[in-house]
Amino acid sequence: MANTIKTQVGIIGGGPSGLMLSQLLDLKGIDSVVLERKSRDYVLSRIRAGVLEQGFTDLMREAGVGERMDREGEIHEGVCISDNGVLHRIDLEKLTGGDTVMVYGQTELTRDLYEARDARNGKVIHEAEDVQPHDITTDAPYLTYTKDGEEYRVDCDFIIGADGFHGVSRKSIPESEIREYEKVYPFGWLGILSETKPVHDELIYARSERGFALCSLRSRVLSRYYVQVPLEDTVEDWSDERFWDELKARLPEDVAARLETGPSIEKSIAPLRSFVCEPMRYGNLFLAGDAAHIVPPTGAKGLNSAASDIYYLYHAMVAYYAEGDASGLDSYSETALRRVWKAQRFSWWMTSMLHQFPNEDPFDQRLQEIELEYFLSSEAARTSLAENYVGLPF
Ligand code: FAD
Ligand code: PHB
Repeated sequence: MANTIKTQVGIIGGGPSGLMLSQLLDLKGIDSVVLERKSRDYVLSRIRAGVLEQGFTDLMREAGVGERMDREGEIHEGVCISDNGVLHRIDLEKLTGGDTVMVYGQTELTRDLYEARDARNGKVIHEAEDVQPHDITTDAPYLTYTKDGEEYRVDCDFIIGADGFHGVSRKSIPESEIREYEKVYPFGWLGILSETKPVHDELIYARSERGFALCSLRSRVLSRYYVQVPLEDTVEDWSDERFWDELKARLPEDVAARLETGPSIEKSIAPLRSFVCEPMRYGNLFLAGDAAHIVPPTGAKGLNSAASDIYYLYHAMVAYYAEGDASGLDSYSETALRRVWKAQRFSWWMTSMLHQFPNEDPFDQRLQEIELEYFLSSEAARTSLAENYVGLPF
């Protein structure tokens, strides 16, 4: 093919996983090409994660992109849970012996990663259509794609599938070679972004008889709020007024009373799903981030689980290229999955404890109530919640 590019690592997907890996590898002299299906503006218009574990922020710094995050991001030493109108604080820092989380939007960190790739002349190709991996089980895998009507080929040593849940990478592995584990929840999250002062200094996860709600933020002037909604609902069903009324009804009275409302500047519904694909490697294709696993957002673990995959892959690739040591690549799937499943457990548990499940039997309902009461009243239990929320070690 006339348009052939040669690189060491071919990365499908220009979300946080793909960009972060290409940046880290570049700093170690390892060449990569990132193929992204959408435009840069589109990727940067997606409002997603907001809470970063320390492992993630350390990785941002290692990638040389931590400067704005450290300047503009907010360190949170605690997080709040409201149980039917009563607010409780989990002191993350005290319970974990010093660990905290950082509030810094996925949009912002993706922008930082793009700028860092630009500054180093990184190859990030947007609007790459019909990306396909080939010869994955050989030592000479390659990618093909189309851009502006022309066909291209990327020859590489390894392919990284960092193309999210709906990407092409996982689907290119024969069904007989993988096992998928999935749980779909009977509700979604309706989220809005509004240019209003956050109602509280820390996040509030609210369990109420009307359903779950979350008060989050992006900055001192930008709030992010969510309410649990039935799966059938659409954004059109939810005027801003209806959203604010429902949010207030799910929060403690004093919090609701000081909630600043305003027009939404973004409004979307996300379904909730737990999903893991095992193994995360097939031949010379390695899956990372949402391409391999999805969590419901309740524990703020999605992007953070992607970060640990990237951390393992990065170190494995550096060992391979610098010393010819393939052991990290060989154990990647097993190592990554061990941490992935712990994040799955935590996200499932937070989701189960805080949402209203339609048609739940009264016994399970009582168990859910007492579970939360126990977790809020026992220091041992709060410590467990805190150590998971700040993130288990890589
Ligand atoms: P993605 O961000 O999905 O990136 C994949 C990229 O691949 C995309 O840019 C896509 O366009 C591209 N792509 C797809 N198919 C192809 C193809 N065929 N060819 C080329 N490119 C392709 N996580 C947290 O840790 N904390 C939170 O607080 C949190 N909150 C969230 C709130 C919401 C409402 C949602 C929806 C998610 C949240 N998450 C959170 C999860 C987090 O956003 C994801 O885990 C994260 O985006 C995963 O990054 P990724 O790079 O692996 O995948
Ligand atoms: C967010 O700010 O978007 C956010 C925060 C915490 C979560 C999920 C989403 O658990």
